[in-house]
Formats: sequence, structure tokens, C-alpha cells
Amino acid sequence: STPSPRSNARAEFVVVANRLPVDLERTADGTQRWTQSPGGLVSALEPFLRSRKGAWVGWPGVPDVEVDEFSDEGLVLHPVTLTSDEVRDYYEGFSNATLWPLYHDVVARPVFDRGWWESYVRVNRRFAEASAAVAGKGATVWVQDYQLQLVPTMLRELRPDLRIGFFLHIPFPPVELFMQLPWRAEIVRGLIGADLVGFHRPGGAQNFLWLARQLIGLEPSRGSVGVRSRPGMVQVGDRTVRVGAFPISIDAAGLDSLSRSKAVQERAAQVRRELGDPKTVLLGVDRLDYTKGIDLRLQAFHELLQEGRVKSEDVAFVQLATPSRERVEHYRQMRGEIEQIVGRINGEFGRVGHPAVHYLHQSVNRSELAAFFSAADVMVVTPLRDGMNLVCKEYVACRHDLGGALVLSEFAGAAAELSSAFLVNPHDLDGVKNALEQAITLDPAEGRRRMRALRRQVLTHDVDRWARSFLEALGTEAAA
Ligand code: ADP
Ligand code: G6P
Repeated sequence: STPSPRSNARAEFVVVANRLPVDLERTADGTQRWTQSPGGLVSALEPFLRSRKGAWVGWPGVPDVEVDEFSDEGLVLHPVTLTSDEVRDYYEGFSNATLWPLYHDVVARPVFDRGWWESYVRVNRRFAEASAAVAGKGATVWVQDYQLQLVPTMLRELRPDLRIGFFLHIPFPPVELFMQLPWRAEIVRGLIGADLVGFHRPGGAQNFLWLARQLIGLEPSRGSVGVRSRPGMVQVGDRTVRVGAFPISIDAAGLDSLSRSKAVQERAAQVRRELGDPKTVLLGVDRLDYTKGIDLRLQAFHELLQEGRVKSEDVAFVQLATPSRERVEHYRQMRGEIEQIVGRINGEFGRVGHPAVHYLHQSVNRSELAAFFSAADVMVVTPLRDGMNLVCKEYVACRHDLGGALVLSEFAGAAAELSSAFLVNPHDLDGVKNALEQAITLDPAEGRRRMRALRRQVLTHDVDRWARSFLEALGTEAAA
């Protein structure tokens, strides 16, 4: 049966994502509270969506709970329930042990499991039905990310009146890798139900256009796709689907002003004191994910210490790692490896009260994070593959003092915009070591020159511009 819009549901603008922007947390004493969900998707979209009167359809982050829709500062949240089997098969399985590694250049081996796929189809249908029930007539629905790639076509079948956009927050892989997927044609057919399919980089859009031709026989345009311009076009029956590149960003002005606050500046100074006032503070901030290259940056640091190119009394390395997808095997394994390297470095180079690496397997709040960014001389961002990476942009937004240096992997989408960083190939350990050494010994005038260029890019290309350019290309009122 076709779900009709609920009588009270008249949302003109709906975001659909696997996760709600907040996670339900049950504390030990049985009470529950909402906390911010992890990851870049929520960091980017939440401030934007709060400034509109939008609705958000998503999962509250724990299995088997039924939560009624509720309002949170102007945003209406519509929870979708997942059972524990679905969390295992759709979320941990197909989304994060099949699609995640496949789309990140197969840096870990993707698992292909038919039962997981069936769960993915079932859960995507549930999200499509929930969105169909929430959206008002002619509304704009913006579907997010790799967990929900079948939703555009499922939703269009239920509600042909809607304007549907889709954005992929992770890389879209080279076609040779995508072709491994047993359900490759189904995924392309799922996405093509949108009016606009967006990727971070033109290369992703181009790969998708090629697949639309090869796998489902459509005839896409042949011109090259630009950044926020010249989208590709595919005719699907009487619809024209656009396929474009829209690099995501952050609330740059918000972070800039947060980092200028007295509280953050004082906390930054305190962090340095607590670290023992080293000459140089190096910082890594990531979800604990095997794509992020946390292990290899620690290995580079270890070798620099061993070779005496860096003195342990002069430096402190801080690694903040948000717990992530902890029941997925690849993640368990990576956590073990990272913790072993940290232990080894501290065993060799730590002193009582002064570890060489300060490792926190924790998430910190926004102002604490801004304080860490302000306190760090060298920000180390070394993913093997990353759709965009927001952490490096957040660091730049926090450096109004023009201090600090950014070491950034070429394989992060952000590298295309941040050419004044120290760009590294994370597979080349000697190259990473050289870049770290250069950043540690950087001449301050040269550092300011680089940081000024980085800030010009980040402050003028913020998340609002990203969202507006996407929604304009989608041709919707919501762009206004
Ligand atoms: P991903 O989306 O893959 O996690 P991004 O770099 O795009 O990677 O986004 C990560 C987001 O999570 C950023 O907004 C970053 O500030 C935040 N984050 C990462 N690690 C932590 C941490 N330990 N504490 C608080 N926030 C974190
Ligand atoms: C990345 C993905 C998001 C995801 C986030 C956190 O940013 O692109 O879709 O929400 O990581 O991962 P999690 O599995 O905890 O939702």
C-alpha cells in the first residue's frame, strides 16, 4: 500500500540519513539521553538543517527501540527502528563490511553476503516508506550516503511528486572495483531514481555515468563534469537525471568564532601546559577507522624518534580517536594494532608523567576539540582514502592566528582544495616522515603564508555554500 503523508506531516524539506543527528544513549542507571552522533555527515548537515525548518528521518543509533517523532530546536526528527538483526546485517554487514571497504579502494577486503544484501533492501524500503509519509506534497527530499542508495528509486515509486536529491559522502570507487559488487546494477538503478546524484569529486560523478551506460544501458552525456558546474545528464524515460560534483565543507565561520573565544584560548594554553609545554604538539583526530591511516602516522612518528630526527623531550603526539563500529571485525583488528603501536612507542620513549603519545579512545565536545586544534602545531591527517575529510578543514578554520601546519594525505578529497598543506602519499612512509619533519621545523613566516592560503579556501567554501550549490542544481525552493 502507498503510504500517504501523515496529517501532521507537511515537511517541505526532508533529510534522510542512516543516523539521526542525535544518538539515544542509555546510561547505567537506566535513564536515557540524546548525544550528538559521530561522523562528518552529521557535523556538516546539522548546522545547515537547523537554520531551515526541516525534518530528518533516521535511526536513533540503538537497536530495537521505538521512539516517537519529536522536535529538537526547530528540527523535526523522525526515528526509524532497526532490529538487532538489521543492525548486524544492514548496518554492520552490508553498509560497513561490504560497501565501506569497497568504496574506499578495497583497503580492507569487502565481504559479499547475500543475507546482508536482503537486509539492506528491506531497510532501504523502510526508510523510503518513512520518508514518503513525512514529506509534504511536492517537497524536496535529500537522501544521504552509502547506507541508503536504493532509497531514491523506491521513494520515487511511492511519491512521484517529490523532488529527490542524493549525496554520497564517501568516495565513489574506480569502476574496476565497483564491478566486483554482485548487486552493482541494483545499486546504480537505486541511485538513478534521484533528480540529482551528487559526489564530492568530478571523478566519482564520471565513474557513475560510465556505470549507468555499462550496467543499465542508459546514454549519459559525454562532457567532463566540473566542480559545482557542468553536471552530467542522463535521460531516464521522461526524466533528466543530473550527476554532479559538490565538495562538502564545514561551518567555518562558526568554528572560527568558537576558536577565538576566551574559553577556548585558555583551554588551549592549559592543554599545552598539561602536555608539559613541549616545543611541538602533533595532533590526530579521527573516528577509529582503518581508512584513516592512524597506524601509519604513528609508525612514521616512531621511526622519527628512533632515528633521533625528533627528540621525545621536545614533542607530544596527541591522538583522539572516536570509538566507531566496534563490532565489525576490521575495526576490532585496527584498534588492537593501533593500541599496540602506542604501547610500543610509550614503552621506548615515554618518561614517568610524560608519555610520547597521548591516546584517547574517546569523543570530545566541540569547544574541547577547538582547543586541541588551537593548541596543535602540526595537524596530521593521513587517510589511505577519504571522501572529503572534514577534520583538516576544521583545523584550518580554528587557526585565525595563522599558526600551525597541516600534513594531509593526497587521498583525502580535501587535498584538491588544500594545496598549501604538506601533501603526502600515505603509502610512502619516508615521504610522510619527511613531511612531518618539515612541518615540525617550519619557518613561521612560511607557515603563516601557507595557513593564510588554506584559510582563504576554507572560509569562502563553507557547508552553506555546499548545500546551496547542491540544492540549486536540484532546482528547488529550498536553495533560497
Ligand atoms: P568521518 O566522517 O569519516 O568520520 P570526517 O573527517 O569527515 O570523517 O568527519 C569527522 C567528524 O567527527 C569531524 O567533524 C570531527 O571533528 C569529528 N571527530 C572525529 N574524532 C573526534 C573526537 N575524538 N572527538 C570529537 N569529534 C571528533
Ligand atoms: C561517515 C559516513 C557517515 C556515518 C559516519 C559515522 O561520515 O559517511 O554516513 O554516519 O561516518 O559512522 P557511523 O557508522 O557511526 O554512522
